[in-house]
Amino acid sequence: MKIIVVGAGYLGLVTGACLAKKGHQITIVERDQKKIAALQEGRIPFYEPGLNQYVIDGIKKNFITFSQDLAQTLHKQNDEIIFSCVGTPSLPNGDADMTAVWSVMTTIGKHLMHDALVINKSTVPIGTARKTKKLLDDLIAKRTNPISINVASNPEFLREGSAIHDFMESDRVVCGIESEEAREILLKLYRPFVKKEEHILEMNFESAELTKYAANAMLATRISFINELSRLADAAHADIKHIQKGIGLDSRIGPDFLNPGVGYGGSCFPKDIDALVATGTAYKEEMSLVRQVKIINEQQKQSFIDSIFNYYGDDILHKTIGIWGLSFKPNTDDIRCAPSLDLINALIDEDIKIVAYDPAAMMHIKNLYKDKVKFVKHRQDLLPQVDALVIMTEWQEFIDTNPEDFTCIKDRLIFDGRNCFDPIELQMHNLTYFCVGRNVYSPKWHEKSIQKRVEYLEQL
Ligand code: UDX
Repeated sequence: MKIIVVGAGYLGLVTGACLAKKGHQITIVERDQKKIAALQEGRIPFYEPGLNQYVIDGIKKNFITFSQDLAQTLHKQNDEIIFSCVGTPSLPNGDADMTAVWSVMTTIGKHLMHDALVINKSTVPIGTARKTKKLLDDLIAKRTNPISINVASNPEFLREGSAIHDFMESDRVVCGIESEEAREILLKLYRPFVKKEEHILEMNFESAELTKYAANAMLATRISFINELSRLADAAHADIKHIQKGIGLDSRIGPDFLNPGVGYGGSCFPKDIDALVATGTAYKEEMSLVRQVKIINEQQKQSFIDSIFNYYGDDILHKTIGIWGLSFKPNTDDIRCAPSLDLINALIDEDIKIVAYDPAAMMHIKNLYKDKVKFVKHRQDLLPQVDALVIMTEWQEFIDTNPEDFTCIKDRLIFDGRNCFDPIELQMHNLTYFCVGRNVYSPKWHEKSIQKRVEYLEQL
């Protein structure tokens, strides 16, 4: 099919590149000329494993072209589908900023010259598809050449760092549709991307829009749930890793998204939780559980940061703190709402020296904090320069580090916000190691376990 994708951000580029992979003819419309120039050469303005190869392949096979002008593209081409993949960032009150969405829909209403299916893929408030249908119908009614436009809501569930996989092998495709034409087009379009046709779900507009928020709120709830439990585990000398396994093997619960840590970040969970609460307010629904998910997440970050300050007391003012991990999660350079920002801000507020390393995100932090944060090229270079190491993102190269390397940290002290290591392993190297929900190794307990471990290793 011939398809226009409006917006060359995370969502638009992944959508366009993956549809092109299946042989569709894609025009990606992006108003930023610099971005288009870079994309033409296959340079992606962000880190997303595998995406630049998909874009380069699509350009080479002439399945992907770019345009800067949506109106002109609509006049020139007769695409069957138009995807709106523009950003809907948070407003201060938690509502989504819909400026870009309405601008795109108005342009479509004024310049689309033939029948087409207009699909909103961005995360938008409930009711947007219905409003879009009305806006387009009103604009078309004013024209001499009436055309018929169908509208659909088709939210995405792509994770940064695995977006290509998540699109090419979708668990499900959610389609908010209210016409037979839309149904046929979406079934045909998405059949190659799901295991079974029944994973292409049809529902009304509002259900599709709310499903997106529900999915992110559910995932964030699991994280805040296990994080709240981790605090009790620490207090009660339980090990959250065992609790995670103990509940995760229950088929009704499942093991995923139950990793305790310093808290969730990213451009979606915080934004979508705020938006869902704001939507609840609009419909006079309290959304008390969803509200609590955010409160617990903020507390989790704060209590982790407090543990660093509490350990040192006023001495921290003379310390240099090392940070491994700046991105909000591994395999991305994205630092939006990353817990590392809360830590850096807290340290800078007290003029505490910081040395940081991240495999992908250092440039973004440098742009934000200028010379207030020092950086190193390799993670090991940081260790002898700092008094304590704080781990905020569980990059594989951190997990693979030999605990021996940590013995050159001046205070032999590690605060691990992502439970990358086995506490006993590190304590065997005479390191002081704090993590999340696993500080079960109280002195009396761990001496015995260390002794047992040493005997076990000796008899190997
Ligand atoms: C999320 C949703 O997963 C995706 O479906 C949606 O389309 C967009 O938002 P993303 O924000 O890219 O994707 O990252 P995700 O992998 O979900 O992680 C979000 C945050 O949760 C990260 O900060 C991560 O560190 C944290 N997390 C994740 C945990 O703390 N524990 C977990 O078990 C899983």
